[in-house]
Amino acid sequence: MSDSTTTETIIVIGASSLIAQAFISQAIAEKEPDLALTIISVSRQSSLTLPVMTRPALANNVTHHHISCDYQQASISRCIADMSSMVGTIKKIIICNGILHSKTTNERTDNETTDKTHLMPEKRIEDINSDALQQLFYANSIVPMLWLSALTELLLQQPHKIDSPKCVISLLSARVGSISDNRLGGWYGYRASKAALNMLIKTTAVEYARRLKRVKLIAFHPGTTDTPLSKPFQANVPAGKLFTPEFVASQLFNIMANIEPNGQASYLDWQGKEISW
Ligand SMILES: NC(=O)c1ccc[n+]([C@@H]2O[C@H](COP(=O)([O-])OP(=O)(O)OC[C@H]3O[C@@H](n4cnc5c(N)ncnc54)[C@H](OP(=O)(O)O)[C@@H]3O)[C@@H](O)[C@H]2O)c1
Repeated sequence: MSDSTTTETIIVIGASSLIAQAFISQAIAEKEPDLALTIISVSRQSSLTLPVMTRPALANNVTHHHISCDYQQASISRCIADMSSMVGTIKKIIICNGILHSKTTNERTDNETTDKTHLMPEKRIEDINSDALQQLFYANSIVPMLWLSALTELLLQQPHKIDSPKCVISLLSARVGSISDNRLGGWYGYRASKAALNMLIKTTAVEYARRLKRVKLIAFHPGTTDTPLSKPFQANVPAGKLFTPEFVASQLFNIMANIEPNGQASYLDWQGKEISW
C-alpha cells in the first residue's frame, strides 16, 4: 500500500459536506479490485466516519486518513506536511468548502461556539454587512485558494510529464458566481465570493498550464442539492431539481474521470455543461 506507483490517492477537503461524503462513497464503489486507494479527508471536524467503510467488500484495499484543520494558513501548511507521507499518485482532489447562511449548526466546529454575525443571503443592498462579507469571502474564496496554493507543493512532487497520469481538481463553486449570467441579483456576498473563487481558479490555471500541465481545474456547480447549505431555500425548487448528494457526487466523479487537462480551467455544471464565466 505504501508503493506510490500502485496507490491512487483522492484528497477531499471540507469532508463534512454531504456532497464530499457521497463522493468518497462513489470513489470506493468505483475502485478497481486490484487498485489500492488512499483517501485523505480534511475537515474542521476532528473525525469522520465513512458509512461505506463498514462494507468490507468495497473497502478492501482502501486506506482512509482523516486530518482536522481550522483552515488558517499555518494549519493548512501543517496538513500538507502530514499528507506528504500518505499520498501515492494523486488522481482527484475536491475542495468543497462553502457557506451561504448560518442557520444550521454546521457553522460550528466540534469544540467552538461562534459569536460571528448571523449569515443570511442579502436581499437588498442595505443588508450588506462587513462581518458577513468577511465570513463569506474567507470560507468561499480564501480557504479554497489557500488549499490550492498549498497543494501545489504536493502536486509538483508528482510526475508531470506529458504521459504522466492526470490529476483533476474540482472546487465547488456555484452558477450564481457567473458574472455574465447575473440576471437575478441579490445574494451579494455569496455570489461575489464564488465569482472571486472562479477568478482565482482561472488565474491558477494560467500558471498550471506552465508548471503543472497534467492538472485539470474545474469550478463545479452541483445544482441545488439537498444539504444543510440549501435547506432554507428548498421550498421553491421545482420538482425533480433538488438533487441528492449521491446523484451529484456520481455526476462529478464521472466528469472528473473523463475530462482531460487542456491548460485551462473549466466552469461546469452537474451535467458537465459549460457555464459562462
Ligand atoms: N447544496 C447546494 O445546493 C449547492 C449549490 C451550489 C453550490 N454548492 C456548493 O457546494 C459546496 C458543498 O456544499 P454542500 O451543499 O455539501 O454543503 P454542506 O453539506 O453544508 O457543506 C459545507 C461545506 O463547507 C465547509 N464549511 C462550513 N463552514 C465553513 C467555514 N466557516 N470555513 C470553511 N469551510 C466551511 C464544510 O467543511 P468542514 O468539513 O470543515 O465542515 C463543508 O465542506 C459548497 O462550496 C457550496 O457553496 C452547493
